[in-house]
Amino acid sequence: MASNGHTENTASMKRNKSFTELLGDNLTFDVKAEVFLDGHVKSMDQYNQMHKQSVEDPESFWTKIANQFYWKEKWSGKFMEYNFDVRKGDIFIKFMEGGKTNICYNVLDRVAQETPDKIAFYWEGNDPANCKTYTYKQLLDEVCKFSNVLKSKGLKKGDRVALYMPMIIELVVAMLACARIGIIHSIVFAGFSADSLAERLKDGDCSLLITADYSVRGDKSIDLKTVADNALKECGEDGVDIKMCIVVKNSSAEGDGTHSPKQKKAKTSVSWNEDVDLWWHDLMTGASNDCQCEWMDAEDPLFILYTSGSTGKPKGVLHTTAGYMLYAATTFKYSFDYHEGEVYWCTADIGWITGHSYIVYGPMANAATSVMFEGTPLYPDAGRMWAVVEKYKVSKFYTAPTAIRMLMKFSDDFVKKYDRSSLKVLGTVGEPINPEAWLWYYKIVGEERCSIVDTFWQTETGGHVIGGMPGATMMKPGSASFPFFGAVPVIMDEDGKEKEGVEVDQGYLVFKQPWPGLMRTLYGNHSRYQAAYFERFPGYYCAGDGAYRDKDGYYWITGRIDDLMNVSGHLLSTAQVESAIVEHSSISEAAVVGYPHPVKGTGIYCFVTPKNGIRFCDALVSELKQKVRTRIGPIATPDVIHEAPGLPKTRSGKIMRRILRKIAAGQTDIGDTTTLADSTVVDKLFTNRPQQ
Ligand code: WTA
Repeated sequence: MASNGHTENTASMKRNKSFTELLGDNLTFDVKAEVFLDGHVKSMDQYNQMHKQSVEDPESFWTKIANQFYWKEKWSGKFMEYNFDVRKGDIFIKFMEGGKTNICYNVLDRVAQETPDKIAFYWEGNDPANCKTYTYKQLLDEVCKFSNVLKSKGLKKGDRVALYMPMIIELVVAMLACARIGIIHSIVFAGFSADSLAERLKDGDCSLLITADYSVRGDKSIDLKTVADNALKECGEDGVDIKMCIVVKNSSAEGDGTHSPKQKKAKTSVSWNEDVDLWWHDLMTGASNDCQCEWMDAEDPLFILYTSGSTGKPKGVLHTTAGYMLYAATTFKYSFDYHEGEVYWCTADIGWITGHSYIVYGPMANAATSVMFEGTPLYPDAGRMWAVVEKYKVSKFYTAPTAIRMLMKFSDDFVKKYDRSSLKVLGTVGEPINPEAWLWYYKIVGEERCSIVDTFWQTETGGHVIGGMPGATMMKPGSASFPFFGAVPVIMDEDGKEKEGVEVDQGYLVFKQPWPGLMRTLYGNHSRYQAAYFERFPGYYCAGDGAYRDKDGYYWITGRIDDLMNVSGHLLSTAQVESAIVEHSSISEAAVVGYPHPVKGTGIYCFVTPKNGIRFCDALVSELKQKVRTRIGPIATPDVIHEAPGLPKTRSGKIMRRILRKIAAGQTDIGDTTTLADSTVVDKLFTNRPQQ
């Protein structure tokens, strides 16, 4: 185990202990059977049998599912081909290669043809008075129109288009329009800074940026267009000329009288560059709603989505068409036990993989009706989530532990005053869930009636790889339980040996064979793909998380074992934050570690060494925080900046993060320090610990 895994492991052991403390011996939960009488999977036996088939004979398992989709041409070659072993040559993964299909056609046209008036999205604005519905047919018309707009601007199959947009329906329209005509979409979360956006635009060599004038979240209005302008300027300075920017006039940001005067003022003007900028609504006026799909090879790229990498530079995870489609659809159906007519709501932002797979592609592939939410859980008050659940009679709800922790700080009355009797499944994603949060979700939100599904997965995995089957899997709070169909998790020891037996202690979580939704490469950087995921344990996909398996075969994820921090469910690299900090002219060195944070799960703790003669003061702390916000975005804002006259290093000059993690966590016993070059630096760090 990497030394930097220890903190997380200890934290997770504590988590499990406190589950026992909280629950006594009753560590498993079942949900009232009547809620799941018609469940897709009715028993563990059925799950076991399906899982066995999915991994022993993936072809017949997935072909049955693939046959439910429309194929312009069926694949004629092998169903699945792959090499997971770097010693045997380049890594590759292919499913159904040679087959021709289109994901937009499958998730949109087919539903619109059969049930045009079915609601695809209940769009719920930031402002509770602002809501709209979009049927599958309305969405299809908009998507076709926008595909024609893209074509009229010269965009074609294989081009990359970046989307930097708020949670408005145009975001869904734009992504599906890209998919319809074979353009690779690259969505950048609209909370990222101009620098982060520029970095992604350049890496993806994008020809077009789509954005909006403003986005509104809570009582804040964010001027997206200015961020987009700055990003385009940066690209230009680096010789990457992006000639077009399509701007949605975000009518939800206009307000209907309930927005604050500050927001209104902000919205009166938008910077405009006649040579580059185009209004979405101008382009859509008169566009035809008739647009043929581009028939894509099963292995043609569908999208790029960036995720943090240990070295700091984000990784452009690339997913392809058919495998991703099958996997997003199937995981959605089973993990949430989705049934026709139910209303589903995932609170994530589409800028993250959770939104890609479980707001857009997965639900729509099941002809689902979803809520799409523009706002935040605390606006106008802490009851907003449950007000929305009551309003649309949501039965399947999917959120993150960090949101649960934030909401449980408020009175339970915010939950209880709304009717939640429609709820059946409560999903969680993004990080290991702590016992208090699990119990609050189960007892207060779900009234001890709902199944909690803890879904473990990654941007890279495309969809859930570990998670229970509602109604069939007995829940153990804090465990993501069992592998999804197609996934074969293994716990590996430090030397690359599989830990044998059912019950094994913590090791590296790896996977033995691909499933259809696993990423195929990192855009433009296949060697980094191999190095990051396949070189550590040849023959296996290495997820980068630690895990153990209990005596009942349940998987328990213990957290990242690399230099990534899981902050509010978002992965950030320590290196990325460090490099932003050392850009400040007063700083000579920085080391960043994660530490346990009551709401965010992991907070960002920065040790900084000012240059000689520089005084460490509040103003410097604010400047450093601002520096990180500008470089990465508000999600990366450091929680603690700790002055470090010196950093603990080994004699060879390597920073001993293990020690820093302990100091950040408030521990006083920092263990063996004999390898330190200068042990007095640690004493100094204890004496000048900042107030938190
Ligand atoms: C963490 C988010 C424990 C994990 C879908 C993983 C989890 C990283 C869980 C991926 C979970 C996600 N339990 N940890 N249920 N879900 N993680 O790419 O560390 O943003 O590697 O994808 O989040 O984050 P990503």
